[in-house]
Amino acid sequence: MSVEVPVPVPVDLDEVDLSDRDWWVRPPAERHAAFDRLRRERPFAFFAEPEIPGIPTGPGYRAVTRYADLEAISSQPALFCSGKGAVSMQDIPAELHEFYGSLISMDDPRHAKIRRIVSKTFTPRMLERTLDSVRAVVDDVLAAARRTAEAGDGTIDVVADIAAPIPLRVICDMMGIPEEDRPGVLNRSNIILSGGDPELIEDGDPLTAFLTAGMEMAALMERLAAERLEQPREDLTTALVTTEVDGEKLSHQEIASFFILLLVAGNETTRNALSQGLLALAEHPDQRARWAADPGLDRTAVEEVVRWVSPVTWMRRTATRDGELNGHRFSAGDKFLLFYAAANRDPEAFRDPQVFDVGRDPNPHVGFGSKGPHFCLGAHLARRELAVAFRAMFDQLPDLEVTGPPDRLRSSFVNGLKRLPARLTGVR
Ligand code: HEM
Repeated sequence: MSVEVPVPVPVDLDEVDLSDRDWWVRPPAERHAAFDRLRRERPFAFFAEPEIPGIPTGPGYRAVTRYADLEAISSQPALFCSGKGAVSMQDIPAELHEFYGSLISMDDPRHAKIRRIVSKTFTPRMLERTLDSVRAVVDDVLAAARRTAEAGDGTIDVVADIAAPIPLRVICDMMGIPEEDRPGVLNRSNIILSGGDPELIEDGDPLTAFLTAGMEMAALMERLAAERLEQPREDLTTALVTTEVDGEKLSHQEIASFFILLLVAGNETTRNALSQGLLALAEHPDQRARWAADPGLDRTAVEEVVRWVSPVTWMRRTATRDGELNGHRFSAGDKFLLFYAAANRDPEAFRDPQVFDVGRDPNPHVGFGSKGPHFCLGAHLARRELAVAFRAMFDQLPDLEVTGPPDRLRSSFVNGLKRLPARLTGVR
């Protein structure tokens, strides 16, 4: 296969447009070369917002690429808020970004309250049961992938056959989504997360497809929430409809919006950590052999996969007043995109940041977010899913060979793969 090992490549910063989704399908070597120069030469580089039909185009944003700047912004939520929108470059209407972002696009005290309700439902018992089920889901998915290869010419698509179904099934099991609704959940989640990638929007314009997918997802969750009030079950949906903090419960709409966040934050991210973790191992066979031979490396290797891939490329913050940060003056209303993918390769924070090292320790990556109130609520679950899945792949699919190259998602927000061809060499 053609390998994509990051090597220094010349890059013209005036040609770099982080808002252009087509820029993100270029080889990662180019992306990281641009980040290197942005960190050194233009640490708060300005970019214009892309135009979206139906949404007013705003004043643009600053791209935060240095680890220290990103940490400083993330850890001062009163000065750099999320409530003006955390997952879009544009100032979309508040109801819309809250609906699609749930607590990720809220500020305290509302954020803290909703997060307390949600955290209360991620009880140790609930989490333990989910974690136990991860192994069964992984075994099942890997066995199905082998059957697919055997039924055909030995080839599989890592994304469709392994990386997508594992986190989707884990989240649907957690929420108690019926089997028959799951294909629809996958399709709608793809549309919501596609970043407008034309391949995933079959007809109509991206904004309408996005809104329709959100409304259909909300309708499904409203139905399930109503069913659980009648007949409680041992699932997260039941916990979400019944849990109270200070006498307040989540509305059905809030549950629907949280479910969309779970799919977005917990499904696509883990999917891309899996697929691109496998790609990184194919590109670094020494690291693959080292990890496969030593389960003691599972902890550090999973962290390194998350640093290397940085499945969430950025989150946004907006300045609430005028101020100065590390020599940069800013005004109230200025937008900052926190480029986790860039901070995760900052030589000020990581020794040899362009080296993929499954034993890296310490590894203070910001793949799950940096310091601050929005740190990933599912990091524990994601780590478990990744550790179980990679170990099981080493054991059950030792003959898996990536035949690449990957087909990249046209999105600046999610570092995603649409397809990653592979074959099981033991099949034929
Ligand atoms: C490799 C997998 C994952 C990655 C890379 C990831 C990354 C992130 C990032 C970057 C944030 C934003 C942090 C910030 O704004 O400061 C976040 C927030 C969040 N994540 Fe994850 N995530 C992953 C898996 C999961 C899973 C499995 C779940 C749940 C099932 C989940 C649920 C959430 C939630 C609910 C939030 C919002 C927290 C808040 O705003 O208070 N994530 N995640």
